[in-house]
Amino acid sequence: VFKASGLTTLPSILLLSPSGSGKTSLLTLFERGTPASTHTSQTPLAVECSLPVGTTASSDKYRSTHDPTSLTHKKFLLIDTPGHGKLRHHAQSSITNPQNLKGLIFLVDSATLSAGDEGLRQTADYLHNILLMLQKRSTGSKAAKALKDIPVLIAANKMDLFTALPAALVKSSLEAEITKVREARSKGLLDSGIGMEDEGEENDDWLGEMGSKEFRFKQMEEFDVSVEVLGGNVCGEEPKVDRWWQWIAERL
Ligand code: GTP
Ligand code: MG
Repeated sequence: VFKASGLTTLPSILLLSPSGSGKTSLLTLFERGTPASTHTSQTPLAVECSLPVGTTASSDKYRSTHDPTSLTHKKFLLIDTPGHGKLRHHAQSSITNPQNLKGLIFLVDSATLSAGDEGLRQTADYLHNILLMLQKRSTGSKAAKALKDIPVLIAANKMDLFTALPAALVKSSLEAEITKVREARSKGLLDSGIGMEDEGEENDDWLGEMGSKEFRFKQMEEFDVSVEVLGGNVCGEEPKVDRWWQWIAERL
């Protein structure tokens, strides 16, 4: 899809998350400076973005200010994917067949992540699956194997809403909920008899540290996946996305 546009050489950042968390809004904000109104996405969308003034890509850090190339803002490709459960293969194929992928932004609606909220369960479920894909990428396609370190930003969006959880709570709530998903999955596998034969061997569908009681994002470091949680908002009176820009800049 992206090949024909000739943009393949640009470093890319992949946006993914459940429906309604604000991915397309973020894409329009990054592309034009203001968020446009959106409809739920049915296809992926890639746009060329430039780092804003005053943000330096890490690859340009040591370039002299007299170097004319430092005057052009670093460009990258932002790839938006549909969050609907039936359309997530788009996001997944961007991971299994990555093209110059520099990082993943998992955008969450921080106002739907309270304990017992259906949004929390669905978000943790999707995030669990994505992290497991990244953990298992060494057994995937050649392109997936080539992905060395994969940085994941959990962008805690909608901080303008008073019902939004602060970023630290978004992090701990997701960790606790992923712990439950992980347990349920491994129990499901046992009940169905899958994996019984190789009992005692490593269960490669277990996310994070084997034998750990609680899941922590830190456990992903062993698989060269770094996870960071930073808050912000795309809409509201004033968008606050500077920390996300900074995170992207450090990956380019
Ligand atoms: P799918 O395409 O279905 O996967 O959803 P999406 O993640 O692309 O969500 P989208 O960008 O369409 O946004 C969903 C709704 O959330 C829209 O009504 C946005 O206006 C709203 N929204 C996005 N960001 C924010 C935010 O920071 N604060 C508030 N209050 N609303 C937001
Ligand atoms: Mg969308």
